[in-house]
Order: sequence, then structure tokens, then C-alpha cells
Amino acid sequence: MKTITDLPEWHALQAHSDGMRNLHLRDLFAQDPERFQHFSLQIEDLLLDYSKHRITAKTMTLLLDLARVADVEGWRDRMFAGEKINSTENRAVLHVALRNRAERPILVDGTNVMPEITAVLEKMRLFSERVRSGAWRGATGEAISDVVNIGIGGSDLGPVMACEALKPYQRPDLRPHFVSNVDAAHLSHTLARLDPARTLFIVASKTFTTQETMTNAASARTWLTDALGEDAVAKHFVAVSTNAAEVARFGIDTTNMFEFWDWVGGRYSLWSAVGLPIVLAVGFERFTELLEGAHEMDEHFRGAPLEQNMPVIMGLLGVWYRNFLGASTLALLPYDQHLVRFAAYFQQGDMESNGKSVRRDGTRVDYDTGPIIWGEPGTNGQHAFFQLLHQGTELVPADFLAAAESQTPLADHHEKLLANFLAQTEALAFGKTADEVRAELRERGQTGEALDALVPHRVFDGNRPTTSILYHKLTPRHLGSLIALYEHKIFVQGIIWGINSYDQWGVELGKELASRILPELQSHETVTGHDSSTSGLINHIQYLRRP
Ligand code: F6P
Repeated sequence: MKTITDLPEWHALQAHSDGMRNLHLRDLFAQDPERFQHFSLQIEDLLLDYSKHRITAKTMTLLLDLARVADVEGWRDRMFAGEKINSTENRAVLHVALRNRAERPILVDGTNVMPEITAVLEKMRLFSERVRSGAWRGATGEAISDVVNIGIGGSDLGPVMACEALKPYQRPDLRPHFVSNVDAAHLSHTLARLDPARTLFIVASKTFTTQETMTNAASARTWLTDALGEDAVAKHFVAVSTNAAEVARFGIDTTNMFEFWDWVGGRYSLWSAVGLPIVLAVGFERFTELLEGAHEMDEHFRGAPLEQNMPVIMGLLGVWYRNFLGASTLALLPYDQHLVRFAAYFQQGDMESNGKSVRRDGTRVDYDTGPIIWGEPGTNGQHAFFQLLHQGTELVPADFLAAAESQTPLADHHEKLLANFLAQTEALAFGKTADEVRAELRERGQTGEALDALVPHRVFDGNRPTTSILYHKLTPRHLGSLIALYEHKIFVQGIIWGINSYDQWGVELGKELASRILPELQSHETVTGHDSSTSGLINHIQYLRRP
């Protein structure tokens, strides 16, 4: 059975990478004064600068050949057409339909899904307008001031990230909160600050069976009914789910349920009714702009030639580092405090999608797949982990994101933020040579052995690759485009690696084992049925908890 590593396109990249290992970004920039023009792309005021990568025109040609032979375009068209490309779950992958502002018909099993999407969006609009205007009243007749989203993973991270990102568009009198962890600390600390009469809960769960969410929802329900009585549930609980039967079983009237569909993956669901907390926080119009921004990126991804296609270029660069230059992680470093949860969001987005070792046909891969995604906003990271990025032994490609203009202008904060953004990518690429260090130290009056001893410590090798993504301002539209850009990048990589990016079987075993261990923790019997470590830990917990 031939795999991607058997193809001449892969071998060509391997051979090419041998020659590229010792090439320095300093040389690449010296050889081509127009490098920025040659290796950057722009869609309206969104700029992708990939010139500070260890690539040449030849590298890009070879990577694009790989994309073609992997049939990225064919798979992309199959996704947009509603084909069931999530083969292990026999599902279409249609988050793109949720933001299909052209309302082009998209068929799943012969039925156009657009009317259903439009109907749910309309329901979200009407509901959000009632809550935001104060027309929706709680059980005691008070307007809602706090919305608590109870969900986890894809039913949490997207709305959390987007609500943080769009803070400047929020009103102070309608505050979003998010409870995800089954650790009671999360729910307790959140509720401690809230008034039941003015609190609305959204229970968000695709399956409506997730242990953490159901446990938090049940406790939140008790908190509410203890204060306001059973009848209050209808005015203080709504659900977002694909599972009407379980929503009803929980006691939420399904007229207060916002539906989505099995062809929306959890980690791609913020565009669906899962985005309800975003709509409540910033209003339906802003949410529509978010969808429009994503749609613009979808159209670019569908239509732009591969060599000018932002998600394709980003996906290929990731493959280049992962498979040919040995990088195992990718840092996402927004120089934008509003994107404080961006890396956390794409940790799920990327790692749950491409953290796979088996191809679509069930055979094991013999090459690396999804990288570890991590990151924090700048400039904080500079004072924490950047030391390793600059001088460590690990090659860490990084994406730097920044807005040209601040949403919260204050004195010269934003210029300082941008100066750091630019300085870091420059330093990572070009470093500082021993001669430069020497000259600098001499200027400061250092000489002799003391100078020589310091030089190696102060040298920066450079040649550390970064992508710079610049946008005008973090508007809902730009946020939508940015998220869609990363979603499609993940898609491109999944296709090249031949894996199904849209299932997540790897999360199941832990869930199964937890449900087996739960009754053991609840009983006081000595446990022996596990390996000695697990049994030993359970028994030690019982011992520590003895009255
Ligand atoms: O355990 C992983 C996962 O299934 C994610 O894929 C999903 O986003 C999350 O749990 C929450 O699932 P649900 O929305 O069904 O509660």
C-alpha cells in the first residue's frame, strides 16, 4: 500500500530539506531584497508574512506539489459539497455551511441544510434581542444580567475565546461567564458572585451526555431551584444541543433549545447555536459580522490558487517543519490581549483534529502528524518562555499575530506592544553573531578573558522561523477570518497526512475508565482490580478521605 512517504513529491522534499538545514535566514534575506514581497499574501487588510521561514521558492514549489498529489483541492471541494468526509462517524463536515452567507445550497443526504441553519440563526436573534433588551424576564420578573454557559471542550472554548476577543463590543450590564471543569471550584466560585433571579444558564453540549457538563448543569439547577423554586427552570435554563431527547429528560423545555447537527464537529461549533453566549454578549449583528469574516476566508480557501491560498500556505509550512525539519510544536503568540484564549482554543482545534496515528484507511502512519500547539499572548511570553525560543535546543516555529490598531488605545501602549512584536520576530530570525556581541561588549568597556567568557552566552543563533499575521483591528469580521484561516490550515494538514481530522476516538478510553473508577471512589471497599499504581492511588485517596 503506497503512502505519502513513498511518493516522489515526498522524496523530493526530503532531499531538498537536507540542503536547507544549514541555510540561514540571514543569507536568504541577503540574497533576495524583495523577500517580503515574494513570501507574503494579503486578503484585504489581513496580511500573512511568511518570509521569515526557512524556505526558498523551490521549497514552496515542492510543498505545493505535495498538496496537489494529496488532492487537497479535491478534498476541500468534497467538504464544501457536504460529502461525508468524516468517515469513521459517517458524517459530513459542514462548519462552513453555518457561515455560508451566500446561502448557496449545501446538501446532506439530498437535503439542503441552509434553511435549517437560517431558522436557528433567526431563533438566536429573537432570543438574544429579548434578553438584551430586558424583555426576557426571570422567574421573579427581573431582567437578566449574567449569562453562565455550562459546557466543555468545543462547547466552551470557542465562546470563551470569542467573548474575550470581542470584549470591546460587550455591555457592562450583561456579563458572560463560563463553567467547564467538573471541579466544583469552577461552578461554586462563578455562582458565588451571581443573583439567581438575574442569571440565565445555557447548557451547551452536542451530545448532552458529557459527564462534566451534566454534573455542572444539575448543580446549577439545584442552586437555582433552591432559591426560586422548580418553576423557575423554564425562565433561567436554555439548551444548545443536537440531542432533543436528552435535553427534555434534563427538564429543559425543547422550545428553549437551540439546535445544531451532527455534521458540526464540537471544536468547529462556535458558528452554530454554540455561539449563543457570543450573540448574547455582543449582539446578533456583531455575530453576523463574525460569520461574514469566516465566510470571506472560506471563499478565499475555495477559490484562490494554491500558491496564493493562505490556509494552504500555512498548512504546508507546518508540514515542512513537522515532517522535514523535525519541529514537534507550534507556538501561537498573539500580541493582542484580546486573543488571550486563542492558543487554548486551537489546542483543541488542532490537537483533537490532527493528533492521530492512523490513516483514513486504518493503517498506521510512518511519519509525524499534528504538532503540539501552545502559546500565550505577547509580551507576557517574552518574560517567561522566550528564552528557550531564542537560545534553546528545540526548533519552535511560531505564529505572531497583531492588530495595527488597538481596540483600547491608551497612551503609547500599542506602539510598545507592536515594537516588541516586530523586535521578537526580527531577533528570532537574524539573531546576533559572536562578532556583533564582541563589538557590543567592547563598546561597554569589557575586555580580555571576561569578554571572551561572556560571548558564547550572549550569541543568538537566529534562524528561528516565524509567521507574522497582521490585521487592522480585532473586529468580529477579522476574528471570523482568523479562526477560519486556522481551521482550514488544520484541514490542509489532515489531508496531506491522510488522516480523518474530524473524529476524536482518543478521548474515549479515559471517559470509560473514569466511569468505572467513579463507583470505586464512592464505595469504601479496598480496590485491587487495576494495575498496582491505579489501585494504590485509589486506596490512598480513600485513606486520606477517612473521617
Ligand atoms: O471529550 C471530547 C469532546 O467530545 C469534544 O470533542 C467536545 O468538544 C467535548 O467533548 C464536549 O462534548 P459535548 O459538546 O458533546 O458535551
